[in-house]
Amino acid sequence: MSTKSIVLTGITTTGTPHLGNYVGAIRPAIEASRDHNVLPFYFLADYHALIKCQDPERVRQSTLEIAAAWLALGLDTENAVFYRQSDVPEITELAWILSCVTAKGLMNRAHAYKAAVQANEESGESDPDKGVTMGLFNYPILMAADILIFNANKVPVGKDQVQHIEMARDIAGRFNHIYGEHFVLPEADVSEDTAVLCGLDGRKMSKSYDNTVPLFAPEKQLRKLIMKIKTNSLLPGEPKDPDTCTLFGIYRAFATKEETTAIRRRYAEGIAWGEMKNILFEYLDDHLKAARERYEALLQAPDKIEEALQDGARKARSYSAPLIRKVRHSIGIRSLSL
Ligand code: TRP
Repeated sequence: MSTKSIVLTGITTTGTPHLGNYVGAIRPAIEASRDHNVLPFYFLADYHALIKCQDPERVRQSTLEIAAAWLALGLDTENAVFYRQSDVPEITELAWILSCVTAKGLMNRAHAYKAAVQANEESGESDPDKGVTMGLFNYPILMAADILIFNANKVPVGKDQVQHIEMARDIAGRFNHIYGEHFVLPEADVSEDTAVLCGLDGRKMSKSYDNTVPLFAPEKQLRKLIMKIKTNSLLPGEPKDPDTCTLFGIYRAFATKEETTAIRRRYAEGIAWGEMKNILFEYLDDHLKAARERYEALLQAPDKIEEALQDGARKARSYSAPLIRKVRHSIGIRSLSL
């Protein structure tokens, strides 16, 4: 077994990768995939997708697009294990086992569940659990299984996911206490310095606000979306504040320090919004063109993607299968012959 530190993260397959995903999660993960001092596990969380999305075509399409994006951007699949959650049945098997040591009270405290209950209460609904599936309720247990099955040490996540990592630690501790030390207690890795981008309307770029710019939008659509980004009504020649500007935030996340400083100066000199939008579009288009071409070629060759994922699943299962054997044995699910 490897002695390298294991870094693991999952991507829920319900949408199309956008610029915010790229800067916040995909780019750092791909950089880390080339670090031979760690063993990264990156997976498409397709069973998690079912919690939010019951449109089969969308789940499939999103899986295809996310996998194609990561591969097109140069994920090092020699060093990193890149797989689809549903190809590793040990994960769902472990999820059940873990659910039998998880207190229901712990799940009652999960943010996603509490938010759903609160929304029901605020709308005057008599049933606080209206619309809450067991999938939503159990979601932190599936996530714990994702992490614990590979004994991951570090889990890079956004702030909204930190509670789930703490729950995974609780669940692992509980299991270890009852059945012996099988699981490493994972730690959340919340990077403070990754950029958070704003979207078309100026709020945080997020698929739940429907304000995203798809990472691999074709050139024409990319231009159109950049032109739609909301700015204030300052006129050409009037000095502008880059630090509260969506355009500048996106530019800075891609450009070098020198380029960013130069644009900052243009803001002070009163650059026109139209010109800044053009600069941003040209810059992004240039930066993403080569990867976009690889992405489009991959979408036309789903067999290639499938092959990469099957390869990843084989590698993943070489870790998960021995672990689940030990876990099953420890809980008394064993052969009856002596
Ligand atoms: N729930 C995570 C999200 O919505 C995705 C995810 C699923 C995940 N399983 C995971 C992240 C395990 C880290 C580790 O962003």
